[in-house]
Amino acid sequence: MSEHSVVHGGPSLPQRRTLVTEIPGPKSRELLERRQRSVARGLSHVLPIFVSAAGGGVLVDVDGNSLIDFGSGIAVTSVGNSADLVVDRVTEQVAQFTHTCFMVAPYSGYVEVCEQLNRLTPGDHDKRSALFNSGAEAVENAVKIARHATGRDAVVVFDHAYHGRTNLTMAMTAKVMPYKEGFGPFAGEVYRVPMAYPFRWPGGPAACAAEALDVITGMIHAQVGEENVAAIVIEPIQGEGGFVVPPDGFLPGLAAFCRANGMVFVADEIQSGFCRTGDWFACDHEQVVPDLVTTAKGIAGGLPLAGVTGRAEMMDAVHPGGLGGTYGGNPVACAAALGAIDTMIKEDLPGKARTIEARMLPRLRKLAEQHPVIGDVRGRGAMIAVELVKPGTTEPDAAAATKVAKTCHGNGMIVLTCGTYGNVLRFLPPLVIGQGLLDEGLSILEDAFSAL
Ligand SMILES: Cc1ncc(COP(=O)(O)O)c(C=O)c1O
Repeated sequence: MSEHSVVHGGPSLPQRRTLVTEIPGPKSRELLERRQRSVARGLSHVLPIFVSAAGGGVLVDVDGNSLIDFGSGIAVTSVGNSADLVVDRVTEQVAQFTHTCFMVAPYSGYVEVCEQLNRLTPGDHDKRSALFNSGAEAVENAVKIARHATGRDAVVVFDHAYHGRTNLTMAMTAKVMPYKEGFGPFAGEVYRVPMAYPFRWPGGPAACAAEALDVITGMIHAQVGEENVAAIVIEPIQGEGGFVVPPDGFLPGLAAFCRANGMVFVADEIQSGFCRTGDWFACDHEQVVPDLVTTAKGIAGGLPLAGVTGRAEMMDAVHPGGLGGTYGGNPVACAAALGAIDTMIKEDLPGKARTIEARMLPRLRKLAEQHPVIGDVRGRGAMIAVELVKPGTTEPDAAAATKVAKTCHGNGMIVLTCGTYGNVLRFLPPLVIGQGLLDEGLSILEDAFSAL
């Protein structure tokens, strides 16, 4: 790439992996040095490359390397980077006006996004939505709404949960390092119960749903009191905690328990929502209808936007002025969301996620047969993971996960790790990724396991 050549991002970007330098190349290394001198150490990065363009299933770095993207900026660019309809709507909006504050002078884009959220989220009851800037802010607001609607304080969350980095959402997040270490004291009235984690459930996967429900409801009864619980907040497929897929029957059981006890059932669909799991929302898999749903990430094709959507009577329990924020539902972010949602509908992205699953899972299962370090293969749609363990045990092997990820990075593929024990490799390709790139990415992964 010459010094002055400009690579344009978006779907027209050549969809191929090309390595023209080592990773990181000289220009990325130079930027890394500048970064070290200017950016706070508390912000880490997965890959030591700096991006100049991205689109479809690739990211191009400043040295001209083109990498296969199995991360989507942590489950955000489901429609692909700089997707055509997102760029069109954002460009139009940014030339019209960039901000008025919805609480000062409203605009139609905000209302249209809320209409779409009310239509697309699970259940056909009367709903209302409110928009925010980040996932954590959406979770905080879901808790505010649930407390207001019930007049109760307690919030029940799960082992392995991740809900964000603000004070309340740190309290709701399970893992101490790196998210909570040294950042306390945390918000009160947050109670943690075990997650239905089939691979690690002591009684085995078949007993997991029923036993987990027994343990959880027993703990709530004995340690919190049903009448004190405002909300149970759960990721229908856990994200940062390890792509934990609860067994069938668990989420419907939990929702029924909430209903029977006047608790608000909050589904945190920030990572699993918007077509990622092969349905519009992960709750759709078992027709679970949450009272409140939090969304962010995939909703706006890469622009910062988040939402809380829920039963009209709960959402409207809050007094006028009780919800909001300067930037929440910014007009440019709303335009991006409308472009992203149009793309999801027109390109049948739930269907595309199911196709990705059908292509990935059999190859990963075969890989697990060849490499006993893979203890579990799980996930739905384009939210897939392998959990690495010492062969024949459930003892986590984080070192192996890190090594495989680093080998993939060096060979021009972006993969992320996750999990309470850091031993899960997760795969989150953009839903628009081409089959050739997807297959090539899987081959790179297979080679990385062979090189372990
Ligand atoms: C399930 C879930 N909830 C909440 C959050 C927090 O979102 P944000 O980083 O936009 O604050 C995340 C982010 O990874 C998430 O995966």
